[in-house]
Amino acid sequence: MRRLAVLLSGRGSNFEAIADAVRSGRIPDAEIVAVISDVAGARGLERARERGLPAFAVERESFPSRAEHEAEIGRILRDAGTDLVCLAGYMRILSPEFVREWPGRILNIHPSLLPKYRGLSPQRRALEAGEVEAGCSVHIVNEGTDTGPVVLQREVPVEPNDTEESLSARILEQEHEAYPEAIVKVLARLADPPKIAPESVQRTAK
Ligand code: GRF
Repeated sequence: MRRLAVLLSGRGSNFEAIADAVRSGRIPDAEIVAVISDVAGARGLERARERGLPAFAVERESFPSRAEHEAEIGRILRDAGTDLVCLAGYMRILSPEFVREWPGRILNIHPSLLPKYRGLSPQRRALEAGEVEAGCSVHIVNEGTDTGPVVLQREVPVEPNDTEESLSARILEQEHEAYPEAIVKVLARLADPPKIAPESVQRTAK
């Protein structure tokens, strides 16, 4: 079983899509071992509790520094035996030190066709720029903000009368499809057997 953790700060609809996909077997051989939020009152955290999943509030204000806040999150992730960390509306930038501890093992979803519109309010910026195509991207988290390698994207056409809300809602529907699909892809890569040269295999003499 692959062990997934989810970090979120708010609504948690992507977390719910992931949890549904784990439950239905769309993400096979996986379980959610921790749901962590920097916001104690986050709706997503409440939903995690309702589903009987291990839910942890780790508020930034409860720690003297960012490093100590992240250290606590790291401790929970390690204690849970996490294989893959899924950021799902987690509104804090993770430090380079934290990201380096989980190389290729942190995913994020962003509501734009990266590399376009990194950062905040990408749907509004896509509208303002007169884009005819918007969408979402799931990417591996590296040390930059929304700069890591893209795992997959889904396009969403911009309609003539779209508002930020209507476009965001249609992108969100696609996010809920894209995130589980991307997790399956990344888990398959993580599951690749390590490439051990035959001569390096240790044999024990009888
Ligand atoms: C989503 O639009 C996601 O792309 C962005 O934050 C939002 C989180 O929504 N990173 P939810 O909390 O998953 O409903």
